[in-house]
Amino acid sequence: MLANLMAWIDKRLPLTDAVNKHAGQYPAPKNFNFWYVFGVLASVVLVNQLLTGVWLTMSYEPSGEGAFASVEYIMRDVDYGWLLRYMHSTGASAFFVVVYMHMFRGMMYGSYQKPRELLWIFGMLIFLVLMAEAFMGYLLPWGNMSYWGAQVIISLFGAIPIIGDDLTLWIRGDYVISGATLNRFFALHVIAMPLVLVVLVFLHILALHEVGSNNPEGTDIKKPKGSVPLEEHSKFTFHEQYTKKYDIVDAIPFHPYYTVKDLVAIVIFLIIFSWVMFFNPEGGGYFMEAPNFEPANGLKTPEHIAPVWYFGPFYTILRVIPDKLLGAVGMFSAIIVLFLLPWFDRGTVKSIKFRCTAHTVNLAQFVICFIALGILGTLPSTPVYNLIGTIATFGYFGFFLALWVYSKNEKTKPVPERVSG
Ligand code: HEM
Repeated sequence: MLANLMAWIDKRLPLTDAVNKHAGQYPAPKNFNFWYVFGVLASVVLVNQLLTGVWLTMSYEPSGEGAFASVEYIMRDVDYGWLLRYMHSTGASAFFVVVYMHMFRGMMYGSYQKPRELLWIFGMLIFLVLMAEAFMGYLLPWGNMSYWGAQVIISLFGAIPIIGDDLTLWIRGDYVISGATLNRFFALHVIAMPLVLVVLVFLHILALHEVGSNNPEGTDIKKPKGSVPLEEHSKFTFHEQYTKKYDIVDAIPFHPYYTVKDLVAIVIFLIIFSWVMFFNPEGGGYFMEAPNFEPANGLKTPEHIAPVWYFGPFYTILRVIPDKLLGAVGMFSAIIVLFLLPWFDRGTVKSIKFRCTAHTVNLAQFVICFIALGILGTLPSTPVYNLIGTIATFGYFGFFLALWVYSKNEKTKPVPERVSG
């Protein structure tokens, strides 16, 4: 009966074809390593956020008067409301952990290079929307840090010459952050941004499957092997291509090889996720900040306004540049340079394994600066911290400049013709 049903559907919608092409039979390089699990983990977190978000919305009240109390109601009175909220708040931090690892993998193995530039651009658009989504979601509990965090970031738009004041007013919908701001952030957080996010993830995967996955060696898995020229590969089924009998592609079908491998990663991830959610949902004040346990109060500024940890690097860049407008420009430029990474890198060799030593050093210093900027973003501003932040900001932007310079005539190691792992 099931086969009949599938045949009936397939005649009307290419369901089996699509599942085979994009999942079951997708030719994945045979040498994927640990770093390749984060795309799947990001998808798992996305589903978690969408589902728990829908359920939270059922009991949340998007108004200045009711928001804070409705979150307390979810935590205390709604059946398993605390679980839903902690799944969602832990999920927000997990999303950024996973996405930062995923992006770092792309940088290590040159996955942004030709022909994967558009895939990278879709990734960066996802990152941008994810940051907007997290920023707006953070206002919704209407705690005091929600209020003042939004105040600091929205007021940045006021630094733009001529239109600044009108623009801030337009974003807030009021002269101060108010119930009107909360309402529009709710609409954007619950409907608009998730919709855009899901469409972007769909395009991201479509673009990936058009050009094929990169791999830790950055070698082309479809290069002809032995006596079989590339044009003749199609004479064989994919199964014949990768089995020992012909062995002409360095790929294996996604299912069962990577479905099983990813499942192991998902289980380990869920164990860590559950530990945080059940035993440490506030993440030592990094996932949920102390002032947010008090209701929003426009008359009481928290002693030290800090963004959630995942905005730390960008917030520090904003803060160490003394001029407000230049600070905002610096912060947005830090994201724009990431968009342009495929063009800063003029090299042809992808994987860090075969690139010059300068590249390894450059990427390592970038990671150190990024982490330093992130830590500083959660600390109060002092002269010493500002100095370290300034150095790390130079290191951050310096990565892209240096890459542009040395990648032109880079001395690389010989890249194996075929995947060796
Ligand atoms: C919701 C967020 C995201 C989801 C669900 C997602 C999903 C995926 C999946 C499932 C893959 C294939 C498996 C893998 O290679 O890990 C992938 C690959 C990739 N993603 Fe993402 N991604 C997200 C965000 C991003 C971001 C922010 C970037 C970078 C700006 C990015 C860049 C890439 C690249 C370059 C690849 C290809 C890697 C390779 O073949 O070596 N992704 N993504």
